Amino acid sequence: MTKYIKEILISREEIAAMCARLGQQISEDYAGKEVVLVGVLKGAFVFMADLARHLTIPCQIDFISVSSYGSGTSSSGIVRINNDIDMDIQGKHLIIVEDIVDSGLTLNHLRQLLGTRKPASMALCTAFDKPERRKVAVAVEYVGMQIPDEFIVGYGLDYDGRYRNLPDIAILGDTGQGGSR
Ligand code: IMP
Ligand code: MG
Repeated sequence: MTKYIKEILISREEIAAMCARLGQQISEDYAGKEVVLVGVLKGAFVFMADLARHLTIPCQIDFISVSSYGSGTSSSGIVRINNDIDMDIQGKHLIIVEDIVDSGLTLNHLRQLLGTRKPASMALCTAFDKPERRKVAVAVEYVGMQIPDEFIVGYGLDYDGRYRNLPDIAILGDTGQGGSR
């Protein structure tokens, strides 16, 4: 399970505090409104569950499934929609919930795609952000934590489909695949 884990970067306690802060902020910003949270699968499933439970405003939940990575740790640059949302989001206050922003390609693509469906408003919320790695500029309204340029796993984030269930955020060590990226 923890074969390739180098070190814990962010503890579950720090993550919990971050979720509480974001939930409170969003609840204040959208006071008197209802929001639609669209979680980006698979990575956002854990964060989505925590964030949603910190909202004190009404909300609806949907998911979109995308893949931008193959089995390695570097972006292919191609964003594929595997499964679209079910809801009609026209006139709704949309918040796209991501696990991490890296190159920015995924969120940039989703912002454009979902924007064509005429939501009343749209905001992006990510648990983690690696600003050093950005390839396209994308405005992210809610950022949990900025992290250094390391490949991380846990709290929904995977390496080759694994480690999503780790409660903390860990840095991936040498996987024997020629470096961790
Ligand atoms: P972007 O399109 O390059 O911004 O990448 C976003 C997606 O890449 C995220 O939703 C993750 O699934 C994946 N990703 C980026 N960085 C990491 C990381 O450090 N660990 C695990 N997955 C990552
Ligand atoms: Mg992933």
